[in-house]
Order: sequence, then C-alpha cells, then structure tokens
Amino acid sequence: MQIDVLTLFPQMFEGPMGLSMMWKAQERGLLHLHLHDLRDWGEGRRRQVDDTPCGGGGGMILRADVLVRAIEDVRSDDEQPVILFTPQGRVFNQGIAGQLSQEERLLLVCGHYEGVDERVRQLAITDEISIGDYVITGGELAAMVVIDATVRQLPGVLGAEHAAAQDSHADGLLEGPHYTRPTDFRGLQVPDLLLSGDHGRIATWRRRQSLLRTLQRRPDLLAAASLSDEERDWLTQRDPGLRHPGP
Ligand code: ADE
Repeated sequence: MQIDVLTLFPQMFEGPMGLSMMWKAQERGLLHLHLHDLRDWGEGRRRQVDDTPCGGGGGMILRADVLVRAIEDVRSDDEQPVILFTPQGRVFNQGIAGQLSQEERLLLVCGHYEGVDERVRQLAITDEISIGDYVITGGELAAMVVIDATVRQLPGVLGAEHAAAQDSHADGLLEGPHYTRPTDFRGLQVPDLLLSGDHGRIATWRRRQSLLRTLQRRPDLLAAASLSDEERDWLTQRDPGLRHPGP
C-alpha cells in the first residue's frame, strides 16, 4: 500500500512511523509512506501556505491555490482517495480502517491553523475524517492514528500470534482481560482455566469475557455485533435490560 501525506510538519511522523509495526510494515515492503512538505508548494520567497480569513476574524486559513496544487501534483490518479483530517469529518472507526486497508493508495491531507479554504473541499477532497469529537492542533496526529489502524489490518503486517482479527472492535466487541506471568501477583491470581491447557474451554472463556466486558463498558456496541442466539441469551441473563433495548 502506498500512502502519501501532505503536511507542514513531516518530522512529526518520524518517531511513530519509524518504530514497531509501522517500521516493520515498511521494512517488509507492505507500506510505502511518502511524506510531502506542503511548504514546497508555498507562495513567494517565504513559501507562504496560509493567509488571514476573508471577512475578518482570528487565525490563519490554508490557501486553496497552494493546497490544490500540491494535491494535484502528488495524486497518482483519480482513483486515489484524498482524505482531509478535520473535526467535521465522519468519525473514524475499525470498519473505516478496514475499508481504507483495501485501497492501493491513499493521499492524506493534514490541515492546520484555523482550517482550510472551503474551495479545497470542493475541488480536491474525496473524504473527510475526524478521529473523535475534540479538536487537536493539526491533522498530523489524526493521520498517524488512521495510518496505524489501517496498516495493521494489511495481510502480513502483524504476525499470526497477534492477528488483527483478534483486536478489540475487530468483531464489534471489546477484548477480554489478558494475563501473563507471574501467576500470583500481590495476591491476584491468573484464572486457573488459562493455565489448564484446555484450548477449547479457554476459547469459550475468552469469548464470554469479551461479551461481558462489552456489556459492562460499551453496551452500545452489542446491537451491531454478530452474536449467536445462544450468546444473546447468555448476555440477556446477565442484563435483562437487553431484552428491551432502548430506542
Ligand atoms: N484536526 C483537528 N481536530 C481533528 C480531529 N478531531 N480529527 C481529525 N483531524 C482534526
């Protein structure tokens, strides 16, 4: 997968993209990450990329001419999605990460300052993504969140031992608890079953823990999760309110 990023701060990506799974994905040739410095398309001697808002008010706005030129230069073809990071976008989740991981190429545009000139949206953006209902200083952190969640779903990025299919949210549920040695820590024991070697019962226990944790922390996820009738009955016994889900 090729990911192009247009940003005023390419250096921000070096740490997170140069370590751990994102580094491995690049080493294995599964991710080709191209960082483009927006200033290279800036205007004049000072390579200006922004200007004051028409109509007055504070802050600076990224210029349409600079941004559209940069997008048009970097975009490989009309098929490559062009994603703008903004709190006004659709809210990112595991499902969107899965869809993006099917693309051969992405072009990610990191906004900064007070926002981008509206004409950029009209002329050059195909999708807008928010990473949650809060405001961060620029799109770079959002881009890194989206890159990480997307790339870890590419076949071959994670080893089989921690396949993305087991992640929280992968099946619409939260993961249950995990344990490792020591088996007794400050009087808290690892559940005996996990030390039994009985893989069938361990799998059933894990699935139930995952259901319980989702019920306790994110009951809103249960409505859309794919559960067997037996699992729904089992959960209903733990929370009779589930029988009559609210509106
Ligand atoms: N830029 C500023 N806030 C953002 C958010 N919540 N998501 C994506 N990009 C942003």
